[in-house]
Amino acid sequence: MSNEYLLEMTNIVKIFPGVKALGGVNLQVRPGEIHALMGENGAGKSTLMKCIAGIYRPTSGDIVFDGKPLDLHSPADALKRGISMIHQELSPVLYRPVMENIWLGREPLNGIGMVDHQRMYEMSKEVLKEIDLEEDPRTLMINLTVAKMQMVEIAKAVSYNSKLIIMDEPTSSLTEKEIKQLFSIMRKLKSQGKSIIFITHKLDEIYEITDRVTVYRDGSYIGSENTADLKVDRLINMMVGRDVKDMFPKIPCPIGEVKLEVKDLSNRKYFSNVSFTVRRGEIFGIAGLIGAGRTEVVETIFGMRPKNGGEIFIDGKKVDIRSPADAIESGMAWLTEDRRGSGIFPMLAVQLNIAIATIPKFLNRIGLIREALLNKSCTEFVKKIQVKTPSLDQHVENLSGGNQQKVLVARWLMTDPDILFMDEPTRGIDVGTKSEIHRLISQLAGEGKSIVMISSELPEVMGMSDRIMIMHQGKVTGIVENTKDLTQEELMAYATDTVEIYKKSKGGK
Ligand SMILES: Nc1ncnc2c1ncn2[C@@H]1O[C@H](COP(=O)(O)OP(=O)(O)OP(=O)(O)O)[C@@H](O)[C@H]1O
Ligand SMILES: [Mg+2]
Repeated sequence: MSNEYLLEMTNIVKIFPGVKALGGVNLQVRPGEIHALMGENGAGKSTLMKCIAGIYRPTSGDIVFDGKPLDLHSPADALKRGISMIHQELSPVLYRPVMENIWLGREPLNGIGMVDHQRMYEMSKEVLKEIDLEEDPRTLMINLTVAKMQMVEIAKAVSYNSKLIIMDEPTSSLTEKEIKQLFSIMRKLKSQGKSIIFITHKLDEIYEITDRVTVYRDGSYIGSENTADLKVDRLINMMVGRDVKDMFPKIPCPIGEVKLEVKDLSNRKYFSNVSFTVRRGEIFGIAGLIGAGRTEVVETIFGMRPKNGGEIFIDGKKVDIRSPADAIESGMAWLTEDRRGSGIFPMLAVQLNIAIATIPKFLNRIGLIREALLNKSCTEFVKKIQVKTPSLDQHVENLSGGNQQKVLVARWLMTDPDILFMDEPTRGIDVGTKSEIHRLISQLAGEGKSIVMISSELPEVMGMSDRIMIMHQGKVTGIVENTKDLTQEELMAYATDTVEIYKKSKGGK
């Protein structure tokens, strides 16, 4: 046998109670390549990876790794064979230092069998240096950004000298700069002959960093191609099984009178003097780099943060919103960006997760839940935004990452709000469903609702918004009409507060 492949998975089947997650799929990874896995939410990507990370055992199928069959019973087994996985939802030991997170379970010992902290510190410094992460190994994990937590996971993989490193949607909550850093580490690992399996929904990342792509759909293997030979519309077609012509199906609709007005809103720590209006039927985009204060503005409007200055008007009337309950009462809804932290209840059923913000609607006169009605409404929304779940009773934690996000979208749509705030509504969502969600947002605007959409993806903001507000370091740098002439460069100039320079350079030509 030649050693063309480091990893060969053939005909892998994985069945969960009531769900066939993988129906006999393949994957071949060469040494020293960056291999992308793509596919719609729930296609089976994370499940397949967990089968080689020692978390799941495949129901059937063959796996050969590094020339030998792979039969794992635990993540520790996988690490011993040279396979590390960085998970979609990280779960570091938050209140322990970086170094203990790296060496957990194999701490260096001194002569009398005690943990040798000094040696652990030095060993950690060394691996951190190898991936260019300047961080004191004694820092508690809780004090790190998500990006740095991921880097620590990568350091751990390096410390195990892993031959294969799996990264499950590592970029979904990183800034542009952090993504660049991650990519340079990936290139370095690749140059050392390590293989990386990289999962992402972002097409530009596929073309920037990967050598080959394997696509799955609904637990089936669709095919593998060299990235360089694969045209983007073909890739989308492989994933979705049809052509997605309209990535941003914005339906033109009449825009009415001002619904929401925010005047000079300030929050001592995060932003100051933010003013804007949103009209009925309008999609109002908020762009800016991560850290610009966009989320904080909405959280303040929504009563989750104290404001120290500014006023909010709805339909011309001043409102006093002191809590999210007040906000919901005034007809607002808020789809948060961080589904783990503030949105999803993992142990609860899909149905409850959807209905939790609307329960009063489903109570009868004596306060009992009208089960049939609740069921009908939830079923309708699950269908509308294509949540892939075997039933409404499934625990949300068993859904794929993207489908958890869809559950949140369903929850807020069901509150039937007048003003809907959405923070990165399509993060982690596959391209096909993304365009469905965009269609829905557009439909809601068509029904006269006001939509405020925060997004870091410029094509999304530009594809969907009527007007766009751009923020930089807590200040509004511009509010622009989204006309045909607007370019990504111009938006970036606003986002980095260099629009004067940009305009001069344009005018000078
Ligand atoms: N522990 C589990 N119990 C039951 N069903 C599960 C479990 N884990 C995954 N599934 C189901 O298996 C299917 C594949 O899920 P998986 O998480 O592998 O998808 P994915 O391709 O990673 O999607 P995403 O892009 O949304 O992360 C889904 O239908 C999911 O609901
Ligand atoms: Mg996944």
